[in-house]
Amino acid sequence: MKLSLQYQESFEDRHHGQTDSAQADMLQTVGVSSINELIEQTVPEAIRLARPLDLPAPKTEMQFLADFRKLASQNKVFKSYLGTGYYDTFTPNVILRNILENPAWYTAYTPYQAEIAQGRLEALLNFQTMVSDLTGMDLANASLLDEATAAAEAMHMLYAMRPATKKSASTFFVSKHCHPQTIDLIFTRATPIGIKVLVGDHRTVDLTNGDIFGLLLQYPASNGDVFDYTDLIASAHELGITVAVAADLLALTLLTSPGEMGADVVVGSAQRFGVPMGYGGPHAAFFATRDAFKRQIPGRIIGVSVDAEGKPAMRMALQTREQHIRREKATSNICTAQVLLAVMAGSYAVYHGPQRLRAIAERVHGLTKVAATALRWSGCEVTTENYFDTITVKVGDVESLKKSARAAQINLRYYADDEHVGISFDETKTLADVTELLDIFGTKADLDAIADELEITWPERLIRTSEYLTHPVFNTHHTEHDMLRYLKSLEEKDLSLVHSMISLGSCTMKLNATAEMIPVTWPEFGKIHPFAPKDQTLGYQQLFSDLNAWLCEITGFAAMSLQPNSGAQGEYAGLMVIRAYHESRGDSHRNIALIPQSAHGTNPASAVMAGMKVVIVKCDERGNIDVADLRAKADQHSNDLACLMVTYPSTHGVFEESIKEICAIIHEHGGQVYMDGANMNAQVGLTSPATIGADVCHLNLHKTFCIPHGGGGPGMGPIGVAEQLVPFLPGHFTVNSQQPTVPAGNRNSQQLTAGQLPAAYGAVSAAPYGSASILTISYAYIAMMGGEGLTNATKQAILNANYIKARLEGHYETLYTGTNGRAAHEMIIDCRPFKQAAGIEVEDIAKRLMDYGFHAPTVSFPVAGTVMIEPTESESKAELDRFCEAMIAIRNEIREVETGEADRVSNVLKHAPHTATVALADDWNRPYSREKAVYPLPYVRARKFWPSVSRIDSAYGDRNLVCSCIPTDAYAEEVAEA
Ligand SMILES: Cc1ncc(COP(=O)(O)O)c(C=O)c1O
Repeated sequence: MKLSLQYQESFEDRHHGQTDSAQADMLQTVGVSSINELIEQTVPEAIRLARPLDLPAPKTEMQFLADFRKLASQNKVFKSYLGTGYYDTFTPNVILRNILENPAWYTAYTPYQAEIAQGRLEALLNFQTMVSDLTGMDLANASLLDEATAAAEAMHMLYAMRPATKKSASTFFVSKHCHPQTIDLIFTRATPIGIKVLVGDHRTVDLTNGDIFGLLLQYPASNGDVFDYTDLIASAHELGITVAVAADLLALTLLTSPGEMGADVVVGSAQRFGVPMGYGGPHAAFFATRDAFKRQIPGRIIGVSVDAEGKPAMRMALQTREQHIRREKATSNICTAQVLLAVMAGSYAVYHGPQRLRAIAERVHGLTKVAATALRWSGCEVTTENYFDTITVKVGDVESLKKSARAAQINLRYYADDEHVGISFDETKTLADVTELLDIFGTKADLDAIADELEITWPERLIRTSEYLTHPVFNTHHTEHDMLRYLKSLEEKDLSLVHSMISLGSCTMKLNATAEMIPVTWPEFGKIHPFAPKDQTLGYQQLFSDLNAWLCEITGFAAMSLQPNSGAQGEYAGLMVIRAYHESRGDSHRNIALIPQSAHGTNPASAVMAGMKVVIVKCDERGNIDVADLRAKADQHSNDLACLMVTYPSTHGVFEESIKEICAIIHEHGGQVYMDGANMNAQVGLTSPATIGADVCHLNLHKTFCIPHGGGGPGMGPIGVAEQLVPFLPGHFTVNSQQPTVPAGNRNSQQLTAGQLPAAYGAVSAAPYGSASILTISYAYIAMMGGEGLTNATKQAILNANYIKARLEGHYETLYTGTNGRAAHEMIIDCRPFKQAAGIEVEDIAKRLMDYGFHAPTVSFPVAGTVMIEPTESESKAELDRFCEAMIAIRNEIREVETGEADRVSNVLKHAPHTATVALADDWNRPYSREKAVYPLPYVRARKFWPSVSRIDSAYGDRNLVCSCIPTDAYAEEVAEA
C-alpha cells in the first residue's frame, strides 16, 4: 500500500459542523440537490457577489499559531508606568485558567435564561457588591464598556435627571484632572445631545454659574493628586448640581470612598483587578450610584429574587429600563457589556479578600512613596502632594530621560508640556523596579531606609475607616483549592456551548475555536498599555492593518475603524460618522433617522444619542420593510433625512428582495444607509453591505467573527464605511503619536455646542483600538478559514437554518420566509397560537427546553410570543436533530394540554425547569412522572444538564430590589416572612 504525505489538517473542517454525508442528508430534507441551489433560492441574485472573496489562503492551526507567534514578537513589552487608568496586574493563575481560558465561562451568553445561568449571575453579584462596597454607593451595575464611556453614561443620566431648578441647565463641568481619554469621550458624547462641556480646575469652578447641572471629578486625579471633594460636592448639592466621580478601585481600599464624600455616581475601570491591559481592553468598567437613581442606571443589573420553590435565585433586574424596551426613549444604548471581565475582577476580590487587597494597595502606595521620597532627596521636583500610586515629576531634560527610559525598556508618561513626567505604580512592581527607575533619573538612594519609615500621611479625612467586602464570599475562598472549587461550583450551574447548541437568533453562537483563543493570553498582547508608543506595538499594527484589509474585502467598504467595543457602540460611531458627513456639506439640519419597526432596540437608542430624531417605518405582513411607507416617509422628510438604519438580512430572518431599491430611495433623498451588521453571518462571501447599497455598517465580531460572548461581553463592533465617509471615522488623541505623550486635558476650557462637530468627531472608546487584545480572535478565524472557508460557513449556516425549518414543518409555523419559502441563517417560530389553545406561553417553551438540555432560542424578539432560532454553521447534524427532537417533543406536550390529556395549570411546561431537588423530593404530587419531567427523551439521560433553580419570579425581585450579596439564610428568612 502506498503512503501519502498530502494530508493537511484543515481548520475549516473542524469549524463546520457537517460531514459530507450529513450535508447530503440535510439537502435532501430541505428539498434541494446542492447547497448552491439553496443559496440561489435564498439570496436574491441582484445582490450576490460577482467574485469570490480575495483573502489569503487558509492556514492550519499549527501554521497559524507559529506565524502568529512571529507577529506577536514584534510587540515589545516594556515596563509600564503610564497609568492613566491602565495598570499591569497579576491575573491569579486560578482565575486565568479557570475563567479567562475556560470555554465554560467564555462561551456562555448574556444570562437571559437565568435558571441555567446562576453561576455567572452570582459572580456578577460579587462584582456589584465589590463595586458598591469600595465606592461607598448603594448599588452598582454589572459592568459597562470602559471608564470613559461609563463617565459619559453618568453625564447622560445626570442630565436626564436634572432637578426642577436645573431643567434648563446644559453645562457639564469636567475637571481638567480627569484622564484625557475620558475628557475626549465626554466631548464626543455631549455634543450631539446639546450638552456643553466646560473643562477646568475644580478648585476654582464657579458653581453659581446657573448653567452647570453636573460635575465630573477624578479620584485620584489623572496626574496622581488625591483631592478631598467633600466640600465641593456639598456646595454643588446645595445648588442642585449633581456629581460624578471617576475612581480607582484599588485606591479605594485605603482612601475615603466617593460615596462617603457625597458623590451621586461613581464610575471607573476594574482592569487592575486581575485583567491584562491588552493594549486597551477588554476590561470591565463599573457604574455605581445612589438608590434614588436605580431606575435610571445604564446597563444591566443583577438582582436577587425567588424561584417557584421560594428559594433565592438571581436574574437580571429592572429590565424595563433597558434600550430593548425603551427604544427611542432610552437614555443609553448599552447592550453587550463586559461580563467575562467583570467576573474576573469580582473573582480577584473573592480570591484576595479585603485584607490582601488592602495589602496590595499598601504595597503599591508604599513603592510610590519610596520613589517620591528618593526623587525628592535627590533634588527632583515631585509636584504631587497627596498621592496614591502616581506622582508627577518636573524634569529639566525630558529628552535625555526619554532616552534612558527607552534603553531600560520603561514607559513613563510624558506630558505635552515637555516638562513633566508621570510615574504610576502597580502590583507587579518591586523595590528593585524603584532602584531601576532612580537609575533612569540619574540618582540612587537607600531604599530600605526609606521603606522602614513609611506611613500614610494623607489628611485624616482622606483615610478610609469604613469597612468593605465583609460578606462571607470575600472572606472564604483564599486558598487555591477553595477558589478552584468555588469557581467550579459556579461554572457547573451554567449552560454554555460546552454543553449544547445555543441557537439564540441574532446572536450567532458559533464555535469559538481553541486555536483562536490561545493568543489572547500571550503577554505580547496582554501586557501592552494602550498608550504605549507605536514602535513598541508593530505586531498589533500589523494585525490591525491585515484585519482592516480583510474586513474591507468582506464588507466591500473603503475603510474600517476598530474602535467601537460593541455592536451598539458601533451603531453610535457609524451614526456620528453620518452626522459629521452631513455637517461637512453644510447639511447639519439633516437629523431624521428612518428605522423599521422590526429593528433591534439599540438602533433607535443609538440614533437618539447621536442627536437624531427617529421615524419608524412599517413592515408588511411578510416581515419586509413596507417600501411604500418608506418612500412616503423619505419624501416627507426629504430635506432633513440623515439616514436609514437597516438590518440585513432583516431581523425577521429574510433576505429582502427590495433592499437595493430601499437604499436607492434613501440616497435619492440625500440620506446615508446604515446597515446593522448583526446578521453578517448570512452575508460573508455571498453578498456584502456595500453590494446591497449601504454606506456604513458595524460588524459584531462577537457574532460572525468568533469572539466568544463571555456571558454578555466582551464584544467588538468595528465599523466599515464607504469612500465618502472615510474622513469622518472616529479619532483618538494617541493615534498619530509615536511617543506615549498623554495630554492633560488638552482641550482646557474649550466649549463645543451642538452643531460644532469637528471633521473627525473624536473618540468613541477610551482606547484607540477598542478591546485590541481580542481582535486576535477574529484575525485567527479569518486567517484559518480563508475566503472559501468563510463563504462555505455562510452557506452552511443557511443550510442549517433551513434544515431546522424543514424538520419543524408541520409542528410549528415559521413566521416569515423569502419569496422561495427559504429562511436566511435564522428563522422565527410562532408560539402565539399555543396561548389560546393550551394556555402555554413562549416562556414555558423556553424553560422546558432546559429540561431537554438546551438553552432557549431568542425569545420575543423581534416579535412578541415567538422564538428566533439561529443554529450557525458549527453545529453537527446530530446536534441539530437533538434540538429538533426536543422542539417536536415539546410540541407534543403542548398538544397533550390542548387535548385535555394534561392539566392546563399543572403540566411539564408550566413547572419547567425541573431541578434535581424537585425531582428527587419525597413528596412528588405532579400529574406526570418524574421520568417525564427530567428525562423526556432518551438522549437526555446521557447528557443531563440540571438547572440549579426552579422558575424564577422576576416581578418579585423587581418589587424587592436586592443587588448585592446577602447571606442566603437571611434571605431565606425574609422570603418566608414576605
Ligand atoms: C440586530 C442587533 N442589533 C444590534 C445589537 C447590539 O449589539 P451589541 O449587543 O453588541 O451592542 C444586537 C445584539 O444582539 C442585535 O441583535
